[in-house]
Amino acid sequence: MKNTLEQIYKNAAEEIINAQTFDALENVKLKYLSRKGELNSIKKNLKDLSDEEKRTIGALANNIFNELDKQIDEKMQKLYKVQLNNKLESERIDITLPSDFRPQGKVHPLTQTINEIVEIFQGLGFSVMPQEYSPEVETEYINFDMLNFPPNHPAKDMQDTFYTKVAPNVILRSQTSGAQIRQMLNQNPPVRVISPGRVYRCESVSARKNNLFHQIEGLLVDKDITFADLKGILNEFVRLYFGASRPTRFRASYFPFTEPSAEVDVQCIMCGGKGCRTCSGSGWLEVLGAGMVHVNVLKNVGIDPEIYSGFAFGMGVERLAMLKYAINDIRLFFNNDVRFLNQF
Ligand code: PHE
Repeated sequence: MKNTLEQIYKNAAEEIINAQTFDALENVKLKYLSRKGELNSIKKNLKDLSDEEKRTIGALANNIFNELDKQIDEKMQKLYKVQLNNKLESERIDITLPSDFRPQGKVHPLTQTINEIVEIFQGLGFSVMPQEYSPEVETEYINFDMLNFPPNHPAKDMQDTFYTKVAPNVILRSQTSGAQIRQMLNQNPPVRVISPGRVYRCESVSARKNNLFHQIEGLLVDKDITFADLKGILNEFVRLYFGASRPTRFRASYFPFTEPSAEVDVQCIMCGGKGCRTCSGSGWLEVLGAGMVHVNVLKNVGIDPEIYSGFAFGMGVERLAMLKYAINDIRLFFNNDVRFLNQF
């Protein structure tokens, strides 16, 4: 019996050494140490032995059991370490590798265009008007009356302007020009500001028109300001914005708050003036409205037109962006399709 036990021990110890996986080790444990294992079947036979033998063989069986149990435990630890090392080795992290791709947010093309135009005017000595002079929810009084719109002017009609239910004369501004009024009410000349912002018009939406769009208003008031100053600034703007000296054309026009007034055209960037679809064959593209600040407007804000004169201009941001980047549908700016936005 002693021999059998020793043989069992030898076999088990060898199998423990040879076991290379947790499963194999678990099988060894089952085979020798479980209730139905080989050691237990030996113990069952102890009853046939003499008391003396029972004691020595029993003790030997117990020792072997404990010893094997210990060896299995140690082997378990060893296998665990090997497995962990393999895992660490195979999953080694190279911290110099580029990280996972994370989509990066981008500045919206309209904001990019606004920033670009603002920078150009800052370079020409203009500063950005405080936001509080330029609210999107405006009064008819500031948006129209103070800007010398005659009562019952068609632009005030419901067709063009969104009226709110806040109060009878509270509207969504139809132009950024009201900002001129607030600026001049708050600052004495010299005034040299621009003001970008959203405007709203009650129009049917099409490829060319959206009922929300952006304008940048400009205002310069000082002594001895003439139409030549206006032309100089706007020509310089066109040169800087479109990247090259581009012919401009000042066409006589009408705005209630400027006199004389002009609409400024830039030679078509698509055809270079030959005439194409973009410019409807004319060779010119209208980019902004401008003029000398009307005497009545100066009077309305308490500036003496005998001493001061000035000019104002207003440009459509979407239009300028569409021309520069050859975009044919204004709605693209508002749909926020990332395939469009990612191109900027
Ligand atoms: N506010 C005018 C418009 O929306 C543009 C403009 C601004 C014209 C300033 C002259 C001076 O059409």
